[in-house]
Amino acid sequence: MNFRVRPVRRLAGECEVPGDKSISHRAALLGALADGLTEVQGYLEAEDCLRTLTAIQMMGVEVTRKGPGHYRIAGAGLGGLVEPADVVDCGNSGTTVRLLIGVLAGQPFWTLLTGDESLRRRPMKRVAEPLTLMGATIVGRSDGGRLPLAVRGAALPRAIAYDTPVASAQVKSAILLAGLRADGPVTVREPAPSRDHSEVMLRAFGARLERPDTRTVTLHPGPLSGAAVQVPGDISSAAFLLVAGLIVPDARVTVRRVGVNPTRTGLLDVLAAMRAPVTTALQGGPGEPTGEPMAALTVTPAPLLATTVAGPLIPRLIDEVPALAVLAATARGTTEIRDAAELRVKESDRIAALARELAKMGVGVEERADGMAIPGGQRFRGARVTSGGDHRMAMALAVAGLTAEGETVVEDTACVQTSFPTFVDTLNALAGGPAITVER
Ligand code: S3P
Repeated sequence: MNFRVRPVRRLAGECEVPGDKSISHRAALLGALADGLTEVQGYLEAEDCLRTLTAIQMMGVEVTRKGPGHYRIAGAGLGGLVEPADVVDCGNSGTTVRLLIGVLAGQPFWTLLTGDESLRRRPMKRVAEPLTLMGATIVGRSDGGRLPLAVRGAALPRAIAYDTPVASAQVKSAILLAGLRADGPVTVREPAPSRDHSEVMLRAFGARLERPDTRTVTLHPGPLSGAAVQVPGDISSAAFLLVAGLIVPDARVTVRRVGVNPTRTGLLDVLAAMRAPVTTALQGGPGEPTGEPMAALTVTPAPLLATTVAGPLIPRLIDEVPALAVLAATARGTTEIRDAAELRVKESDRIAALARELAKMGVGVEERADGMAIPGGQRFRGARVTSGGDHRMAMALAVAGLTAEGETVVEDTACVQTSFPTFVDTLNALAGGPAITVER
């Protein structure tokens, strides 16, 4: 499937984006492990999160779809999951597989896990290592570091205090999920704070957690009770619409009900540093059932200044870098992105992919080992580019095409279904016509 993208002069209106991917995965997994019923509204019905629902069903959890994005999960309790009868295919979803390995580390049965070509390339040692310390057996390709993997959990995982070498919410969450059944409290310390959706939701499900500082969390083992979860819109999906609204000449775009958990809003900090006119109207708050704040975000175009994106900001916007790179190419001055080597092990090597594909559109990006330098003041030229099977590359390139000179064809775009199935319809509604057409 390809996108054919025509340049547009105008984007206007209000829209919503589908539910947050990270929060949806967690709602399914905590719902499966809890005692009693969990009712989720706003669940992201995209391939990645549907993989997580299938996985818990394969482990004996009853999931009922009550309506669009509305699921009832009958929790099996911490000790009630059953050995899946077949290989669990996690598709493209890193969060599904890494969080699941955490759950399975505390389940005394064998599970076989695999994924698509991209996921089979991605590193799993980062979760396998701490979970092995906790007593899980994890074997498979690359000495247990690449899918397919087989996992056998410990009946009583050992409590650990673990310093993670990477700031990764997936690693942190895997350890916390295994820790629910451990023989004592587990502690995770990160080099920089990563998204804290697991901590927020674990508390809402009755877990005892301490967070002595923003980089450290301790979980006390114990049961969870099912809860009501309202999933906010995904800021990582909203990012593409916000960038479009900042670069299309005559634009005014509002995205409502976007999750603005401070561990996810690095993009908004960068937009402020670039002097982008963004208004934020809070719509939810700690009163929401999930404890995840929500806001309506409005953007209009303006001359932007280059900035430096590095350090603890990186984990707070890691998934937004493809969109940000497109924006940076239009700013005044050179934007530098550093400390972001993690981009090389996402759904694709996003540093190499951005340099390679944006070059086809006439936009130069200097590739660095841990990031990139993006000179501003550049114009996109319509071209034939490819997502390389990476959903966020597909959407970033489509947004670049909206302001290009001439038509852009983005190849290999079926991957957008993994996180933002309504991307094309939403953009076309804002454009008031078919800015993007889908060619099958
Ligand atoms: C996620 C964490 C991040 C992010 C991914 C979702 C999560 O990955 O890139 O899209 O839901 O925990 P890492 O934990 O590998 O940084």
